Amino acid sequence: MSKPSKDTILEIEHLVKKLNYHCYQYYVLDSPEISDSEYDALYRKLKDLEESSGYVLPDSPTKRVGAPPLEKFEKVKHTEPMLSLDNAFSYEELEEFNKRLKRFLKSDNELEYTVEPKYDGLAIELTYKGGLLLQASTRGDGYEGENVTLNIKTIKEIPLKIDSAHVPDLIDIRGEIYMDIDEFEALNKERALNGEPQFANPRNAAAGSVRQLDSSITAKRKLHLACYGIGASENTGFSSQWEFIKWLKANRFPVPKNISRATGIEEIINLVRNIERMRSSFSFEADGVVIKVNDFKLQKSLGMKTREPRWATAYKFPAHQGVTRIHEIMVSVGRTGTITPVALLEPVSIGGVTVSRSTLHNWDEIERKDIRTGDTVVVERAGDVIPHVLSVVKEKRTGKENRILPPSICPVCGSSVEKEEGGVAFRCIGLNCSAQVQEHIKHYASRSAMDIEGMGDKNVELLFSKGLIRHFIDIYRLTTQDLLQLPGFADKSARNLVHAIEKSKQSSLSRFLYSLGISHVGEYASKLLAKNFREIEDLYYTKPETILEIKHLGKKIAHSVSQFFNDQTNLDTLKELRTMGLELSNPDFESGPVQKRPLEGLTFVLTGTLAKPRKEIENFIESLGGHVSGSVSKKTDYVVTGESPGSKLNKARSLSIKDISYEELKQVVKERSKD
Ligand code: IVH
Repeated sequence: MSKPSKDTILEIEHLVKKLNYHCYQYYVLDSPEISDSEYDALYRKLKDLEESSGYVLPDSPTKRVGAPPLEKFEKVKHTEPMLSLDNAFSYEELEEFNKRLKRFLKSDNELEYTVEPKYDGLAIELTYKGGLLLQASTRGDGYEGENVTLNIKTIKEIPLKIDSAHVPDLIDIRGEIYMDIDEFEALNKERALNGEPQFANPRNAAAGSVRQLDSSITAKRKLHLACYGIGASENTGFSSQWEFIKWLKANRFPVPKNISRATGIEEIINLVRNIERMRSSFSFEADGVVIKVNDFKLQKSLGMKTREPRWATAYKFPAHQGVTRIHEIMVSVGRTGTITPVALLEPVSIGGVTVSRSTLHNWDEIERKDIRTGDTVVVERAGDVIPHVLSVVKEKRTGKENRILPPSICPVCGSSVEKEEGGVAFRCIGLNCSAQVQEHIKHYASRSAMDIEGMGDKNVELLFSKGLIRHFIDIYRLTTQDLLQLPGFADKSARNLVHAIEKSKQSSLSRFLYSLGISHVGEYASKLLAKNFREIEDLYYTKPETILEIKHLGKKIAHSVSQFFNDQTNLDTLKELRTMGLELSNPDFESGPVQKRPLEGLTFVLTGTLAKPRKEIENFIESLGGHVSGSVSKKTDYVVTGESPGSKLNKARSLSIKDISYEELKQVVKERSKD
């Protein structure tokens, strides 16, 4: 490859700067200035230039992806050990901490501290040499961790280069990798659909995502970073934690939210209280508040204890854990038939919330933790997530506890239960299992799907039990009269619900795709599909290869999407929804491997009494890109004939135009979908 021209180098440098700037706006500040498609276009331009010139900058965003999986992680020694923090469990203990430091420094002067949330994630060290990210390592035992550089580089908010006039020769920046609670829940939902084991909390999800030998998996997980500390460094010149945080911010590193400074114990306690109050509104799990002496010189004079610095402490929020007894284990059947064991507990208050049931995830988990009915267990509540059993208190066993086996038949519909191949989930194979059907309808109407206000779980159950809905399409057949017969409905609430149902017909394609409950298709995959297909009809008869052309969509999704849109019953339902007035907008559409519609460019004429109502066949043809005309001409490609065809058939024959039945029309569609 010849040397790149000066112009190419300049353009590449310019694009890298621009993309890194927009990355920061998007991932750290959460205020993008350009659209995803504009970003993608710039990215593609850079990638093309890099490929044609062979010139790739070390901080190019293209360096964040595409490394082959590792065999195992290399070990990495930390230049400065990554210590842990001392804990305080009450405000008194915080007071004690402040007094201790003053005593140690033999000073009556009030000390200045920084106060920041303690992120519940995975500690990481980022080593920058000459401004470039050289290595990222986990904490490990504090002295030696694992080299996770490839994985960490996939996290877009982590700068690959420190873009500043005064770059330290060396700096080890420490921080916490974490996953937002929403993201953790969405990930678990997808995993449940895939029959994969659940992560117990956002911390485990973050740690599991970072410790992946295949960095392309890490790249799919939405991870974040909060930088809070400094390890080994040369020529930094910071004199305090506050100054360091300011420098981090100026250099586009994400830092903990709500950091402030406090002097004296009263201010500390006020700030701690504030963070504790805000805790439930954070998008991430915080398990406490970290209080650090601000001045680096004072930190140095205070020094270390064996495993922790003397100059900092972590005020820990009351644990969201409790001890209680399992009095029964029942199973619930989900939308896709997955059978989840649920423990019914003696009610216990955990972090101010009464907990009386907890998920046991699956039978592998029950076996691994050896959970039995009658057991005394430790239960944990993470965020707003369903509580789960952490462990069994085996010392409390009396011998009367019972092991729990997976059911061999579905407790709801009596169909057989099968273990998923290669997975951990047991599944009811009944096609008409009422639990599955109800769960599907609940999903369809739920907030992140079609968002039908008033159609919550309780009302779905009620409508289902009264036989008013047996499928989600029945939602659109409900009238105010139907609703008024039901307990809890009055004039206004019935009208509101019918109005909300009507409104949902104007939803977006991505929401609708998600609401269909196609296996493995979560919100993210639905968005990607909507980006690439303008209308639902463009997905009809789609082939797996077409879906695989979409970045980030894998084989499993391609297969289930294709299967769904090749199933005539599904397509009939979609068409019926259209006749009921479903109109989907698609703000996500950006173009992509838009499938050519199978009947594109063909003209049809219908004659005779057809196998289906004429309007329906017309819709069918048009939804697949074909045109229906009223009279036969040279431009006609096919005449679709039913019983007792009229003169149109004669004319068609005289012009040698093919005549086909409705069944043959479907065959034509199939054939043309294969092209
Ligand atoms: S400062 C010398 N600040 O908590 C230790 N740690 O329990 C300096 N953590 O290992 C740590 N948020 O993984 C600090 N704002 C924060 C933190 C934080 C979370 C983690 C970190 C540390 C652990 C100690």
